[in-house]
Amino acid sequence: MKFFASFIAILAVTVSANPLLEKRASVNDVANIGYATLNGGTSGGSGAAVVTVNSLSALTSAVAGNTKKVVVITGNISGTAIVKVGGNTTIVGRNGATLTGVGLRVLGVSNVIIRNLKINKVVGDAIGVQEASKVWIDHVELWSDLTHDKDYYDGLLDITHGVTEITVSYVHFHTHYKGTLVGHSDSNSSEDTKMTVTYAYNYFRNINSRTPSFRFGRGHIYNNVFDDNGDGINTRVGAQLLVQNNVWNAGNKKPLYSTDQGYAVATGNDFGGKSNTAPAGTFTSAPYPVSLIATGSVRSAVVGQAGATISI
Ligand SMILES: *[C@@H]1O[C@H](CO)[C@@H](O)[C@H](O)[C@H]1NC(C)=O
Ligand SMILES: *[C@@H]1O[C@H](CO)[C@@H](O)[C@H](O)[C@H]1NC(C)=O
Ligand SMILES: *[C@@H]1O[C@H](CO)[C@@H](O)[C@H](O)[C@H]1NC(C)=O
Repeated sequence: MKFFASFIAILAVTVSANPLLEKRASVNDVANIGYATLNGGTSGGSGAAVVTVNSLSALTSAVAGNTKKVVVITGNISGTAIVKVGGNTTIVGRNGATLTGVGLRVLGVSNVIIRNLKINKVVGDAIGVQEASKVWIDHVELWSDLTHDKDYYDGLLDITHGVTEITVSYVHFHTHYKGTLVGHSDSNSSEDTKMTVTYAYNYFRNINSRTPSFRFGRGHIYNNVFDDNGDGINTRVGAQLLVQNNVWNAGNKKPLYSTDQGYAVATGNDFGGKSNTAPAGTFTSAPYPVSLIATGSVRSAVVGQAGATISI
């Protein structure tokens, strides 16, 4: 398997008021983390012509269909819409590009990359991925507010109906009720047992529940930071999770727990003084190379890096 080492990150130190490391990346990067790298990998529209958009109508038409394409969002877009994303597509935001009230739906397609975007206050799921495979969601910020009823917005990132080979990395989930769901129903083991999802280097902050809620499939959850959330990782109905080197602060209600015989193998975690109550499972080793960050270094590697923080 061959991939262009994306993140051949020329790490440049910014000398602005915000002295964070700035990661540089290319619109042609391909997935280099987790399940999205397997079986030929996830390349989106890498190498195709770049289309730039800054309106809802231009975005909607640019991302439609399965022809290989790179779509760069160059300005903020507001509206009330769920935009359907075709296969073989890379969508990237430039300079903090923000979608307000506009969500993305990856439905029934394969090979999609979504990076460096901010998406907020979507009535519906901010990002929904259904009946899809090979999806990389990376360096995205997702949020709404906690002033509406908990069901007013839906999930920030819902992955349902048998999705396989998806990686969620460096996503900043915050200020929301229902964070991220894998598997929508207890009665669909037939389509959902095959689900495979990696969550790595994400920052979950001030989320009421679902960080994530995970049914049936196989999930690798490593090097994430959880601050001040309610319910934590919920392994459900036969899910097999591998939970490694994550960090919770003391403000979470419960870090890792099981409902209806969900399982987890948990190693190297800092549960913030609370306990893992999930029964041990059988998923002990990820089927791809992993370089685990040491638990004590996870917070500084993730907080401030998760979100739309890359320069493209
Ligand atoms: C999308 O990419 C796949 C390979 O990744 C290819 O088989 C398929 O033909 C592509 N679809 C289009 C419409 O280009
Ligand atoms: C775009 O939205 C962001 C919020 O994510 C805001 O900080 C920024 O000022 C907006 N830019 C413009 C040009 O309106
Ligand atoms: C269960 O999955 C099948 C496809 O495998 C789908 O047709 C059906 O609608 C799903 N049922 C529920 C309750 O979601």
